Amino acid sequence: MNTIPAYEIVPDSPEHSDAVEALYDDVFGPGRFAKTAERLREGNTKIADASLLAVDSDGVTGVVRVWPVKVGEGGRAAFLGPIAVAERRRGNGVAFKLMERAIGVCREQGYAAVILVGDHEYYERFGFHPAGEGRFLLPGPVDQKRVLIRDLSDRAAKLKGELSVPR
Ligand SMILES: CC(C)(COP(=O)(O)OP(=O)(O)OC[C@H]1O[C@@H](n2cnc3c(N)ncnc32)[C@H](O)[C@@H]1OP(=O)(O)O)[C@@H](O)C(=O)NCCC(=O)NCCS
Repeated sequence: MNTIPAYEIVPDSPEHSDAVEALYDDVFGPGRFAKTAERLREGNTKIADASLLAVDSDGVTGVVRVWPVKVGEGGRAAFLGPIAVAERRRGNGVAFKLMERAIGVCREQGYAAVILVGDHEYYERFGFHPAGEGRFLLPGPVDQKRVLIRDLSDRAAKLKGELSVPR
């Protein structure tokens, strides 16, 4: 018998923001705001349709957020993260569903690529590969081996340079 309670994937919305912050705090702790990737989220506006929640009868159980970033002078890409799933829900494919859907929306919206900072071992299942030493510069220190890209079109090959919040 399947004892895993049902959940649904819904768009991230303000009504859930406290629950999302609580989940991020549980999973990453308060140190999360110090991460370099956070500098690309501050003052930025999420890509609404690509930012998603998994919700079950206990509330928000998973979240992925995706942000637009400027790449170099004229490039544009989606920047994914953080993704988090409540411990009680892990290993049930929740993150897989959130990732697949978020990447699909980025493709539909014409983004050339999705970029993130994370473990290649985990993200390679979604088609991410290391971007290459020094290809993307982030607004702070980052382990370049963890800077990953998932190409969504041929235009991805042209992306290179500093990542920044679109103004
Ligand atoms: C990573 C995370 C989002 C995955 O959520 P999930 O819903 O359990 O993911 P899924 O069920 O789709 O996939 C689980 C699989 O991913 C693997 N996995 C999880 N984290 C991994 C990592 N860092 N490296 C490699 N594999 C990893 C699990 O071992 C499991 O493997 P299996 O399918 O062979 O059993 C969740 O574990 C989490 O919130 N972790 C803490 C926050 C975090 O690390 N976020 C990513 C920041 S880079």
